[in-house]
Amino acid sequence: MSGLIARAAAALHGSRLTLALTGAGISVESGIPDFRSAAGLWARYDPAEYATIEAFLQDPRKVWAMLREMDQLIAQARPNPAHLGLAELERLGWLDQIITQNVDNLHQAAGAARVIEYHGNAGTLSCPGCGRSYRAAAKRKEAVPRCRCGMVLKPDVVFFGEDIPAAALERSFQLASAAEALLLVGTSAEVAPANTIPVLAKERGAIIIEINLERTPLTDSLTDIFLEGPAAATIPALVAELKKMKPKAGN
Ligand code: APR
Repeated sequence: MSGLIARAAAALHGSRLTLALTGAGISVESGIPDFRSAAGLWARYDPAEYATIEAFLQDPRKVWAMLREMDQLIAQARPNPAHLGLAELERLGWLDQIITQNVDNLHQAAGAARVIEYHGNAGTLSCPGCGRSYRAAAKRKEAVPRCRCGMVLKPDVVFFGEDIPAAALERSFQLASAAEALLLVGTSAEVAPANTIPVLAKERGAIIIEINLERTPLTDSLTDIFLEGPAAATIPALVAELKKMKPKAGN
């Protein structure tokens, strides 16, 4: 693995624009389950019944039962060494932008400043009726949080069947087209349009470095360097290797 870490560090060292695309796997070591692993959320909740906008509008009380479980885990979660390592890469000038599919705010909590949130952020709730916004923390005591107007509130996350925020989509494709290196961290790459980012980056010549516990559909099709193992160990090893090399100009 150390040879692969050295190769990955060299690729980041030589890259003039580096992105990271992160998925639920990067937050597993913060206590938040991912979705598609054996112990993932979708092993206990059918996404067709709990994660679509239709399901939420049809039976918000039922969907809030799952959302409350996630919300408690997110409320207790703290950034792990993988989040902290990506924030350090940003500070050292080796990472230009994080694009995350996660809604747990842990990249920002770790100190990362440049984070595109593809699927929104669970930290705030909005009223589908009058549009009022609330902090999730302020509504944590209500099993089914309601707006002052009486409507059931919806977390500001993207459900299946909803659009990705247009600005996030546009900016991420612009960056993917110009990237020279892309870190893929803790994602099964099963969900579009996030999973088209590595395809676009690869087409434009970027080096794809994948960090995952197991191989994914991308590993054999477009990954250049596969770092197998937990992100909370692999990313700090990558940071340590980069710190042995010549610092980025201006850092
Ligand atoms: N370190 C690295 N990778 C890990 C770790 C870990 N500690 N733990 C799990 N993984 C990997 C799993 O092997 C899997 O490949 O993370 C990946 C998580 O995949 P998913 O559960 O499918 O999560 P994600 O790719 O983020 O899903 C994308 O699907 O359900 C929707 O909106 C949801 O944003 C989510 C999207």
